[in-house]
Amino acid sequence: MAIDGRWLRTRSYVFRAAALSAIVFSFNHANAQSMAAADSPPTDELAALKSENVKLRSLIPSQSHAMMDVSFHFTNLWFAGQEKNWPLAQFYLNETRSHIKWSLRLVPVRKTTHGELKLQDKFDPFDADRLAEIQKQITAQDRKLFSAAYRDAMNGCNECHSAADKPYLLVVVPDKATAQGIQFKPNK
Ligand code: HEC
Repeated sequence: MAIDGRWLRTRSYVFRAAALSAIVFSFNHANAQSMAAADSPPTDELAALKSENVKLRSLIPSQSHAMMDVSFHFTNLWFAGQEKNWPLAQFYLNETRSHIKWSLRLVPVRKTTHGELKLQDKFDPFDADRLAEIQKQITAQDRKLFSAAYRDAMNGCNECHSAADKPYLLVVVPDKATAQGIQFKPNK
């Protein structure tokens, strides 16, 4: 009798526990479904976002466009250095550097005939050695060593172009500044 009573009580606990867990499960289930619905936008919204993304990507400049900027600044850097206009040289070195970094963000990895080329791996030593040497000579205000550092950096530009299967993009010492209406002689 006592055993029966315990069994009945136990049985009712089991039933109650089962009923409770069924309620908790269905609540969680319903909740998870409504949360999922709130998290993911409806399909038409998703389609709109996708087409907006395609549109925005089409508006981003190409890597070669960014490189044209690099070339513009790097060319003027040569003339600023030749004129010993060190603040102007500093400006063009900074612009050269930041525009290469921008061009790398536009296309970080290029497919080449010898596999994928991670441009950052090419840029890092170029920056640490070659651009740093130009910086050093701008700070030292030494035109002769600046010119040597510039020529050395040109080799770095060309090494990356070759690695990207574009050896014909051969950077040479420029004969004319690209910036018009900017005074290259220092303002005394
Ligand atoms: C880390 C790699 C890398 C470095 C360093 C680099 N370039 Fe480039 N450059 C490229 C790639 C890749 C292209 C081709 C882009 C394309 O075809 O879309 C390119 C293209 C160019 C172009 C052709 C742009 C055009 O459409 O007319 C010029 C000019 C250029 N680079 C100048 C320079 C100069 C100057 C330097 C050095 C100060 C330099 N690049 C350093 C990767 C590099």
